Amino acid sequence: MKKEWWKESVVYQIYPRSFMDSNGDGIGDLQGIIMKLDYLKELGIDTIWLSPVYQSPNDDNGYDISDYYTIMEELGTMEDWEELLDQIHMREMRLIMDLVVNHTSDEHEWFVQSKSSKENEYRDYYIWREGKAEGVEPNNWASNFGGSAWEYNNQTGDYYLHLFSKKQPDLNWDNENVRQDIYKMMRWWLDKGIDGFRMDVINFISKEQGLPDGEPKLGKSYVSGSKYYRNGPKIHMYLQEMNKEVLSHYDAMTVGEMPGVSPEEAKDYTSQDRNELNMVFQFEHVGLDNGPNGKWDLKKVNLLDLKQSLSRWQNALSNDGWNSLYFNNHDQPRSVSRFGNDKKYRVESAKMLATLLHMMKGTPYVYQGEELGMTNIEFESIEGYRDIETIQAYKDLKEQGLTEDQVLKSLYAKSRDNARTPMQWDSSENGGFTSGTPWIQVNPNYSVINAEAEMANEHSIFSYYSQLIMLRKQQDLIKFGDYQLVLENDPDIFAYLRTYEDKKLLVICNFYEKEPVFKIPNEINFMTKQLLISNYVVNAQSSITEINLQPYETRVYLLN
Ligand code: NOJ
Repeated sequence: MKKEWWKESVVYQIYPRSFMDSNGDGIGDLQGIIMKLDYLKELGIDTIWLSPVYQSPNDDNGYDISDYYTIMEELGTMEDWEELLDQIHMREMRLIMDLVVNHTSDEHEWFVQSKSSKENEYRDYYIWREGKAEGVEPNNWASNFGGSAWEYNNQTGDYYLHLFSKKQPDLNWDNENVRQDIYKMMRWWLDKGIDGFRMDVINFISKEQGLPDGEPKLGKSYVSGSKYYRNGPKIHMYLQEMNKEVLSHYDAMTVGEMPGVSPEEAKDYTSQDRNELNMVFQFEHVGLDNGPNGKWDLKKVNLLDLKQSLSRWQNALSNDGWNSLYFNNHDQPRSVSRFGNDKKYRVESAKMLATLLHMMKGTPYVYQGEELGMTNIEFESIEGYRDIETIQAYKDLKEQGLTEDQVLKSLYAKSRDNARTPMQWDSSENGGFTSGTPWIQVNPNYSVINAEAEMANEHSIFSYYSQLIMLRKQQDLIKFGDYQLVLENDPDIFAYLRTYEDKKLLVICNFYEKEPVFKIPNEINFMTKQLLISNYVVNAQSSITEINLQPYETRVYLLN
């Protein structure tokens, strides 16, 4: 397997609005990030992924871009951004930017032109269709944020497609000029010195010809059309073209966000000699707690499902292609609340989850605050929420007849705002995030959970993450070793083996509060063992033939 810097990296995601506010306006900004770069260095991070910082009316917090070449005023200026890049590179870290090109903002100049008349030169930059009949949308697709995926435009008497909010019209990738304009923009940023891109819903860019109706569902006006736009007919062609025209000319890392991608498809996207992307963000494991009615329909995740899913991905991309490893990002609830126990065993379970992920093969991603074990938030009412998806879901679920309590319960578990409350830096007011009024409330637990306290404590979650990261840096075994699930059918313990040359790594994770016994499988032979990391105090000499595990206990052994 070829070694590449992005295979040896640990990436930290910054959601700029919520990271650090330097000027007291309640919104995180670029100067705020600069203030905290040493913190990231201390954690051991070498690559930063910055969620969008481009000009945007913020219908979806920057994922609706109105100018790809300008920095959002609230976040700073282009000079601030250049300073940030310099400061990152000075610390021998890298920066990857978010590339949001499935759609733009409706306030982007291209769309303003496009909607103005059918003859406009930008008309075909977006996806326009006539209604099926007066007042009837061109097809029955639902937007991913609820309602129809089509919006009527008075000026031209027809509809445009928006897979997300109506302020996020989808670009028409079948138009060569669109693609060339995007490639030009990508080159512009790469020439400024960035080290790669995270690509927003990049497997949505090629839509099936004719935009066929999704399968109708009783009682639903709009249904998912994802079959016709996920991994669409020309997706590989476009990514290969992008690679040839842009990426192949730079030493850039790429990770494509891909809802609904299978391990087999991911292999096609990331295989070394297909020249598309380096890795993808898959969604299988973060969909395991969705009930039959989707995301808001709550279900407990079953460990056997999680083991099977993550192992499938480890195995499918073991020799060719590459995995990304994540539990958290700005769209997902906090993992310690979701898969662990954010009360009594917050520290133990956060460390266990981190171990589970960071000892796997792939590039680990840490989302801001994850390294502190930040938790979900429960706002008293819908008034506290800011996220466009959450607010729409609240309305839809109420309309479907759910009670206020039922709806709030779903939001507490799944709202994207769980991940978007501000970083908790210290125990001063607003967790040290801002001297003003934060754009979204800080989680009140900041007095206990904060970076300052954790950095001073060698047993903190922060210290544990930095050890995990250091171990990865030191051991090729962790970076490149083969993966093998052990105790496949054990309902409580997630254990696996990594092997590289003559070394083995044994990873043991007790996933619940129960206290099961771990029995080492007979086929694991070794002469010596060395405890690399654990979340309880363990006598390093004690036998590992049988271990009485404590709640959420995790241990990693190097075997020879
Ligand atoms: C995925 C992004 O991560 C999410 O935050 C956004 O709302 C959608 N794509 C639309 O851009």
